[in-house]
Amino acid sequence: MTKPEPELSSGEPETPRRAHIKSYGCQMNVHDAERMADLLAGEGFVMTEDAGDADLVILNTCHIREKAAEKVYSELGRLRVAKEQRAADGRKTLIAVAGCVAQAEGGEIMKRQPNVDIVVGPQSYHRLPDLIARAAAHDRKGAIDTEFPEEDKFSALPKPQAKRLLARGPSAFLTVQEGCDKFCSFCVVPFTRGAETSRPVAAIVEEARAMVEAGIRDIMLLGQNVNAYHGDDGKGGTADLARLFDRLSAIEGLARIRYATSHPRDMNAALVAAHRDNPKVMPYLHLPVQSGSNRVLKAMNRRHDRDFYFRIVDDLRAARPDIALSSDFITGFPGETDADFEDTMDLVRRIGFAAAYSFKYSPRPGTKSAEGPDSVPESVKAERLAALQALIAEQQNAFNAACLGRRMPVLFEKAGRFPGQVSGKSPYLQAVNVEIPAENVISDFIGRIADVDITELASNSLRGKMAESRSAVGGKAA
Ligand code: SAH
Ligand code: SF4
Ligand code: F3S
Repeated sequence: MTKPEPELSSGEPETPRRAHIKSYGCQMNVHDAERMADLLAGEGFVMTEDAGDADLVILNTCHIREKAAEKVYSELGRLRVAKEQRAADGRKTLIAVAGCVAQAEGGEIMKRQPNVDIVVGPQSYHRLPDLIARAAAHDRKGAIDTEFPEEDKFSALPKPQAKRLLARGPSAFLTVQEGCDKFCSFCVVPFTRGAETSRPVAAIVEEARAMVEAGIRDIMLLGQNVNAYHGDDGKGGTADLARLFDRLSAIEGLARIRYATSHPRDMNAALVAAHRDNPKVMPYLHLPVQSGSNRVLKAMNRRHDRDFYFRIVDDLRAARPDIALSSDFITGFPGETDADFEDTMDLVRRIGFAAAYSFKYSPRPGTKSAEGPDSVPESVKAERLAALQALIAEQQNAFNAACLGRRMPVLFEKAGRFPGQVSGKSPYLQAVNVEIPAENVISDFIGRIADVDITELASNSLRGKMAESRSAVGGKAA
């Protein structure tokens, strides 16, 4: 790949070029931004938090709802001002739009915002160095790449480096699957991320092993439809997600396996059983249901009804009685009546979630449901959203309150909010703050798992006490 032109730097070759990446949207996008940062670091860029000070600004965008996509244009407006100011000081700035808006809108973005220099989709960002070189050479057409390339992005990207990985803490993302073939009628993901593909088992195991050697203890396996995973097993067949867990859990030092996001249809028996049989698989599952109404689920092309969802949750709870569930919901899908919405509220009451995300329906270009009218008035969407969110907040509080008095293993990630406190995650992804014994320092705990007695509820976290300070410092490998 060609190196970027020197004119992109501030004219002094010894000054490292600075890059700023802002990410919107899902965990996959966050992880893509991390991989881009690693790629740019290898190209000599230094990351900066200050967009106004960057030679290269990347907006890693999300197309899922109109609001998310429109945010990008207001940000581009602000960046234009910063770019002009820098230009007045004789400094060049490149602006790149990456992610799902880039994929969906392609070169149109440059027409609407001429200050954009690079457009790169989620499947081709490994080509950024080349795109930067082309943009620096004013090749606007050449600086647009929204292909779904033949080559494997992950083989082309630099291997994650230990120092950079650990700087983000002992929990990390690992992409195992991308794209989606489900075509829910409201969703842009099958268009922006493309067809469902799974990475081979060997590549994932190798990446996970390197992460664990670097000190990572908790890996979140990512995919738009992660439980549809069916990667090449290297023996002429494919492995499902439960089989992948078996391979990963054999890695000594890896303590926790998580995965997101799952579709109810792809929760196979082996995956449910993994929650019972594999102690490294965490008892927390994000399983979006979207609606509790069979009529709406059908119109959404979700390929499951509410009873199917109840059955899976029953199976999961039979396999792992303490499993905590979270979900996604859409309110005001076209045609949703009060009775449909009441079915959603009823489903939520019957399941009891530990957390959930909910959104007002937003018609998206190119999707099936956007072909018809957006028939539910905004005010009704908002009312239903508020009611749903209040119910979910109640359930979340109840779930946290039920943790009081429990002892649970906490993976410590960073210094807490107050001096002498260390902050970590429970198996259920709750933030837990704990005071460390006087003879210890915070760094003794980072990356370690210790039993904590939960003693107090705070607004967005739990507080607890080390059950046994010696086990924590001794590095119990639980
Ligand atoms: N399976 C995906 C879902 C991505 S979208 C994943 O891996 O995360 C995340 C959530 O956004 C969806 O579950 C859905 O609840 C919501 N969503 C998607 N399209 C939407 C739309 N058009 N309007 C409102 N919410 C939407
Ligand atoms: Fe979108 Fe449905 Fe695929 Fe999830 S399963 S990414 S909601 S099309
Ligand atoms: Fe958004 Fe793309 Fe993720 S549309 S939710 S960034 S897959």
